[in-house]
Amino acid sequence: MELFTRTVLLLSVLHGMLVQAAPCNPRSPHWKALAPIPLYPRQEHTTLALNSTTLAILGGIIPITNSSPPLFTTTPLLQLYDIPTNKWHPAPAAPAPIPINHPNAVVVNSKLYLLGGLSDAGDGVWRGTNQSFVYDIRSNTWSALPPMPASDVARGSAAMGVDEQTGVVYLAGGMTQLPLIEGAGVQESVAAVSAFDTRTNQWVSLGSLPRGVRRMPGRRDHAGAAVVQGVLYVLGGRDTGQTNVRGEVFALNLRDLGKGWVTKKGVMPTPRGGVSAAAVGGKVYVFGGEGNPEEGSDGVFGQVEAYDTRTDSWERLGRMRAPRHGTSAVAVGRGVYIPGGGIRLGGAPVDTFDVFYPEACEWL
Ligand SMILES: *[C@@H]1O[C@H](CO)[C@@H](O)[C@H](O)[C@H]1NC(C)=O
Ligand SMILES: *[C@@H]1O[C@H](CO)[C@@H](O)[C@H](O)[C@H]1NC(C)=O
Repeated sequence: MELFTRTVLLLSVLHGMLVQAAPCNPRSPHWKALAPIPLYPRQEHTTLALNSTTLAILGGIIPITNSSPPLFTTTPLLQLYDIPTNKWHPAPAAPAPIPINHPNAVVVNSKLYLLGGLSDAGDGVWRGTNQSFVYDIRSNTWSALPPMPASDVARGSAAMGVDEQTGVVYLAGGMTQLPLIEGAGVQESVAAVSAFDTRTNQWVSLGSLPRGVRRMPGRRDHAGAAVVQGVLYVLGGRDTGQTNVRGEVFALNLRDLGKGWVTKKGVMPTPRGGVSAAAVGGKVYVFGGEGNPEEGSDGVFGQVEAYDTRTDSWERLGRMRAPRHGTSAVAVGRGVYIPGGGIRLGGAPVDTFDVFYPEACEWL
């Protein structure tokens, strides 16, 4: 009996290897259009994988219907999407307790942590909020978490990374305010780092973090972020404004915090902020962005570029199927899913949703 079970196991492992070694679709890399986001076009939200089949989009801005010039409002909407059927759930999930754009959010152990973001007080400036919540996927309910402490900097658009071994979430950089009207100040970027422990549901005191961890080598918001092999990478982004784009890669080894942040040698071929990014294998793919000075670009970048964490180098992978900024990407299996975003500098949300396959095979 045991021998039989082992043989079957071995055979199925062998079968898996054969399937993976089979020749693949030669269109590499490639894009596929998916079901558009229902209800509203969406921008400045966060995209998350709740589990291996369900994606979520949280917060962001949506248009106010029939407004001219077009106006936008900040939303608490949480909408779910089922990968195998390419269908959005017919009804939205429980909304976040507060409307929020540029939310700092991650999923750890089937829970969605919302750790601040930007909120709209209606006075023409979006400001960082310290309010934090956790969403339980199974019960579809939100509960309050301790707000970010006053010793940290309340902000949105932070680069996020999770140490899977300790359950600690890192927030790197971000912006404290985004003025929408002339003369209301600058888009203030920060280098600050914060950490939240999902095992204790407490913010980690900054004093307990090694000195070299507490600040990134530069101020960044709207950057790409991904964790590969326990290292948090922060890619590109901007420093105080849409057109002040940056191309450096900052890295923090979450398994060896004593080493602190380092700036890698490989610089993005096309420096930009407002990007979306996700890792597949050892590479971090960076999509789109905002602040393109090129004629006819509408201020939006369409570039897809990949950073290979093993060689500390970049490659160019052509253009997005539909160039946009102000969205976020999530990798599940071999696909990178990118819902919504803006198609012009500033607010111009769309319901476009597509998936990028960096490698030749669609394993799904
Ligand atoms: C993923 O989460 C969704 C939403 O809660 C749920 O319907 C689905 O069954 C879950 N799938 C898996 C594989 O856990
Ligand atoms: C959180 O922000 C609110 C509003 O700015 C402020 O009143 C409150 O004191 C802050 N809480 C902490 C813990 O800093």
